[in-house]
Amino acid sequence: MARPVLKINDLKASVEDKVILTGVDLEVKGGEIHAIMGPNGTGKSTLSQVVMGHPKYEVLGGEVTMNGEEVLEMEVDERAHAGLFLAMQYPSEIPGVTNSDFLRMSKKARLKEGEKDQSLMKFIRELDATIETLNMNPDMAHRYLNEGFSGGEKKRNEILQMLMLKPEIAILDEIDSGLDVDALRIVGEAVNSMRSEDFGCLIITHYQRVLDYIKPDFVHVMMQGRIVKSGDISLMEKIDAEGYDWIKEEVGIEDERVVVEAESGRPVRLDSCGTKEKLGL
Ligand SMILES: Nc1ncnc2c1ncn2[C@@H]1O[C@H](COP(=O)(O)OP(=O)(O)OP(=O)(O)O)[C@@H](O)[C@H]1O
Ligand SMILES: [Mg+2]
Repeated sequence: MARPVLKINDLKASVEDKVILTGVDLEVKGGEIHAIMGPNGTGKSTLSQVVMGHPKYEVLGGEVTMNGEEVLEMEVDERAHAGLFLAMQYPSEIPGVTNSDFLRMSKKARLKEGEKDQSLMKFIRELDATIETLNMNPDMAHRYLNEGFSGGEKKRNEILQMLMLKPEIAILDEIDSGLDVDALRIVGEAVNSMRSEDFGCLIITHYQRVLDYIKPDFVHVMMQGRIVKSGDISLMEKIDAEGYDWIKEEVGIEDERVVVEAESGRPVRLDSCGTKEKLGL
């Protein structure tokens, strides 16, 4: 298998007519771990949702390709089939669908053409073993997806899905938030166990403590809906020690959140005069 590659080029997007992404460029290849940091409300989760095809978000411009194929043209299930995976910051509860049914269906959807489905026995064995690796309660397999799960259980469950589905590129949105120290280690080990040329990972995080377990090769900072600075692990350490003000100064940004209108202080809306031209749409 060739090394997978996710390419994001000048991606612009809005939600409810509010411009959030203003031109994101990023390339994640197999074998690489990237971290995206950035203050609250700067578009990090929006980026992950747009890449995965959440219907609420409107793409205004730019391209996303996965192994050379146009992702933005694909349905959500096609994106998963292409090897993309998202662990959400706030995983949804799906009453009526058990965790195990969901995983079985999702695994089927990932099958390549002509590939045979694994037997139910094999699936159950793999699921039980993975649940054990993650130190999760065995009854998790039979509970409705995320319903009544604690914050940390939801996060572990996202990692369970990642381990079972074996994506080529995974986006993990704040997988570390709300985890206790043991869970943080277990999740870190799970991500490390997937590290290979066939797997690339984009981790959205606020804290350097995730680095105790996962060492990113590249660190990016997002402000105003685009990546304003990239570097290596030392960038993360500096942010941890000094915050974001120095970056804002360096880049010449006063307010790091989504683009706001100077006069009103409100987010720029698509219909406001000259916005499209300003954003080059
Ligand atoms: N569905 C939505 N409806 C309305 N506004 C939205 C929606 N999704 C995102 N936004 C807005 O877009 C901006 C960026 O949000 P996003 O969730 O991408 O930020 P973030 O960088 O992930 O922040 P955090 O670090 O707090 O998770 C915010 O101002 C948010 O309120
Ligand atoms: Mg977020």
